[in-house]
Amino acid sequence: MSGENAYHINLVEENADQDGSDEGDLTLMPWCYHNLFTIISIVAVLWVIHRLVLGTQPKWFAYMMYLYTKYEFVQFEEVKKDHFASLSSVVSHDPELRKKKEIRILEIGVGTGVNFAHYPEGTHLVGVDRNLHFKSYWEENRKQFPNIYSGEMLTTSAENIEAVADNSVDVVVITLVLCSVPKIDPILKEVLRVLAPGGKFYFMEHIAEFDPEKHGLRKMMQDVLTYLYVWPFIYDGCCLNRDMLPNIKKAGFSSVEAEKYYAPVPNIIFDVERPNLKGIATK
Ligand SMILES: C[S@@+](CC[C@H](N)C(=O)[O-])C[C@H]1O[C@@H](n2cnc3c(N)ncnc32)[C@H](O)[C@@H]1O
Repeated sequence: MSGENAYHINLVEENADQDGSDEGDLTLMPWCYHNLFTIISIVAVLWVIHRLVLGTQPKWFAYMMYLYTKYEFVQFEEVKKDHFASLSSVVSHDPELRKKKEIRILEIGVGTGVNFAHYPEGTHLVGVDRNLHFKSYWEENRKQFPNIYSGEMLTTSAENIEAVADNSVDVVVITLVLCSVPKIDPILKEVLRVLAPGGKFYFMEHIAEFDPEKHGLRKMMQDVLTYLYVWPFIYDGCCLNRDMLPNIKKAGFSSVEAEKYYAPVPNIIFDVERPNLKGIATK
């Protein structure tokens, strides 16, 4: 390079430094300032998606459950019929109800009321669900069941059912709920609190594959769909890879009878929900 050219380049660099308008200086300017419009647009779009999708999730989940449960799945109803058969021999702790051969049931995560048909004649039912949008489906459904003498639905989280007094119910029912609660133990604590001494806790849940050697693919699908948040997103927090039995066993019931089995499912998509747990715990 000739001496003249080198001098020219030095001059250009010096000038650029002085007026601060070269490319090097531009990258030093705050990135956010230059991209303010893009950032505001992205935040606005995310906010709208959040409002439209996540904000309305309880509403569309309730509607989806209403559609799912509108037509009964006969094979699973048979399993339930068998499971709940002993409800008819439960004797109330409440002398007034006992005289009339009636019982008080608390159902947690009652949803649209898919278990109404399995409750014995003379049931006084309190339903609990954290999702307000189930209420109208529950009330509409309840009218079809004269076996339920009285029923109210409490819109509250099962972790704290203040409205239900200690030792006041004969039976607590939970079906397909413990898969989607943030923590299982506080709910079991409430179950024990509200049950009268000798009261029964009937539970049915889909659980993690219990024979992974034989059903490795199903176990893998359960883990993948849960960890990638696909199943929990569609089904309101539902985790496919839980087992609630250890929690139930150590909750403080005087006895727990439980069975793991493969439940019938309506189609291949729900194959991941085939491993099931059902049982009755006594306070
Ligand atoms: C998959 S649905 C099952 C509904 C019904 N029990 C059945 O067997 O089809 C789960 C239900 O539990 C309710 N739920 C989930 N977590 C709850 C909580 N922490 N407290 C009260 N309800 C809850 C949901 O709103 C929903 O209605």
